[in-house]
Amino acid sequence: GFLKWTWRLTYLSAIGGTLYIGWGIYQGRTPPAQYDPDPSKKTLVVLGTGWGAVSLLKKLDTENYNVIVVSPRNYFLFTPLLPSCTTGTIEHRSIMEPIRSFLRHKKAAVKYYEAECTKIDYENKMIYINDESEIKGSTSATEVPFDMLVVGVGAENATFGIPGVREHGCFLKEVPDAQKIRKRIMDCVETATFKDQSPEEVKRLLHMVVVGGGPTGVEFAGELQDFFENDLRKWIPEISNNFHVTLVEALPNVLPMFSKNLIEYTEQTFKEETIDIRTKTMVKRVEEKYIEAEYTDALGKKVLEKIPYGLLVWATGNALKPVVKDLMSQIPAQKDSRRGLFVNEYLVVKGTENIWAVGDCAIANYAPTAQVASQEGAFLARLFNQMAKTDSIETELAELSNVQEKATSKDLRDEAFGKIKDLQKRLRRVKNIGPFEYSHQGSLAYIGSEKAVADISWLTGNLATGGQLTYFFWRSAYLSMCFSTRNRILVIMDWAKTQVFGRDVSRE
Ligand code: FAD
Ligand code: NAI
Repeated sequence: GFLKWTWRLTYLSAIGGTLYIGWGIYQGRTPPAQYDPDPSKKTLVVLGTGWGAVSLLKKLDTENYNVIVVSPRNYFLFTPLLPSCTTGTIEHRSIMEPIRSFLRHKKAAVKYYEAECTKIDYENKMIYINDESEIKGSTSATEVPFDMLVVGVGAENATFGIPGVREHGCFLKEVPDAQKIRKRIMDCVETATFKDQSPEEVKRLLHMVVVGGGPTGVEFAGELQDFFENDLRKWIPEISNNFHVTLVEALPNVLPMFSKNLIEYTEQTFKEETIDIRTKTMVKRVEEKYIEAEYTDALGKKVLEKIPYGLLVWATGNALKPVVKDLMSQIPAQKDSRRGLFVNEYLVVKGTENIWAVGDCAIANYAPTAQVASQEGAFLARLFNQMAKTDSIETELAELSNVQEKATSKDLRDEAFGKIKDLQKRLRRVKNIGPFEYSHQGSLAYIGSEKAVADISWLTGNLATGGQLTYFFWRSAYLSMCFSTRNRILVIMDWAKTQVFGRDVSRE
């Protein structure tokens, strides 16, 4: 009897689950009709389609504003899984979500322009935008006025002015970066196996150098070593003795934001995976075929070493975008800021009244992470929704006081008075929105060979853990954080494909 019931329950939950997913997919494909944007409402311009901006748009009641989104990228990118796209563990389209379909699901329509904002004119409440894509129409540069502006343009790759980085290195921030790396890995491998290649060249071409021991560098190095161990050495055995990954970091440790035991765990795992970690080594110059790095030898003398490479991936953190730098130069209160826009506890750009900033371009005392950006975006959505409510209550209040003044009888006056009292109470409640508070859920990073590290805050304190179990946690956590059901299904299919067939080693 018990077994029979267990089976029935299993059946029922399977049917329920399928119906639920099916309903989700159906709704995703058939959005209801939208209201047109109302030009009489305040124009809210949002710059960017990254973590900060999209999290704002997700929760924003768009019917309260005339919303315009400007970004050169017409999709949202789930960056935590981008390192997996460099080796084909995951295909890049699986972690992209088109902004068009996302915006089409909002109650009131939102205008989207695929363009880069080249200048924000703070005084005149105007932004200048440029269509940077290949296809141009009769116009490709124009201006958009705003009443309210949210800057969520992210950051640029830091190079610290080190010569040669832009010309010879690959960054890892956007989809085209991951595609370029994927192509280059295979190009290096195929060129290394070219007829009569000299042994030094083979060694150089198969030397994969990663600069920057932050999470981007570490995750990429882990993915690359996996690619070699699981696929490359199987199909191209002749590279086995020469393929080598080196991680160069200026500080004494990699992953400085993780706890000490996890740093040690990562360094030990890398040793086992035969990834070389060169800490306290600062890259000073980049040439086409080698980098120059400085380290201090056992006698305390500074040594400049030439390290030949085939592939160079540069992951040394964030720098300011020119459009942000330009905005800062227009606002005296931003004069002392170097790393981004100073914002107050409501994410208002200091020195302005109608500009807010979220994510990597804002300085709010938190690390530049997706976690912070998305919480900031969600906070702004709440704030703007409340502000709209406040506006509508205030208009209603003004109308009611008019009614009260002109009322011809005591009853009418009393009625209006009662309504005013209620509205004032509601207004106080609505206006009472607290400042932004970040809630840190923890840090996670993949370190290769199906291992991950996690520093997680639990109710009871902190949990620092590493290993294979953490890897399953890492997978499920990232899967649950994916943007949509579609993304989740695609990522699961990619993981399964990699498990069954291995990664694709063809060079597109
Ligand atoms: P972004 O997400 O970078 O978005 C910026 C947007 O602005 C983009 O749509 C861009 O096209 C647009 N834009 C750029 N210039 C302009 C312009 N001039 N005008 C208009 N629009 C413009 N964080 C975590 O918390 N966990 C992780 O696991 C994690 N993994 C990461 C892995 C990698 C490889 C990378 C690179 C980052 C990772 N991060 C992670 C960090 C995280 O991605 C960033 O902190 C986050 O993307 C910041 O969000 P944002 O909205 O500020 O900027
Ligand atoms: P980062 O700023 O975290 O690390 C860059 C590293 O490069 C630093 O350790 C720095 O010492 C080193 N470096 C700088 N110049 C150097 C030089 N010339 N030579 C050698 N080393 C040099 O940058 P990263 O990894 O790109 O991350 C950016 C942000 O994104 C961080 O806030 C990070 O937390 C977040 N992120 C989070 C991830 C996660 O949680 N799993 C994954 C990727 C990024």
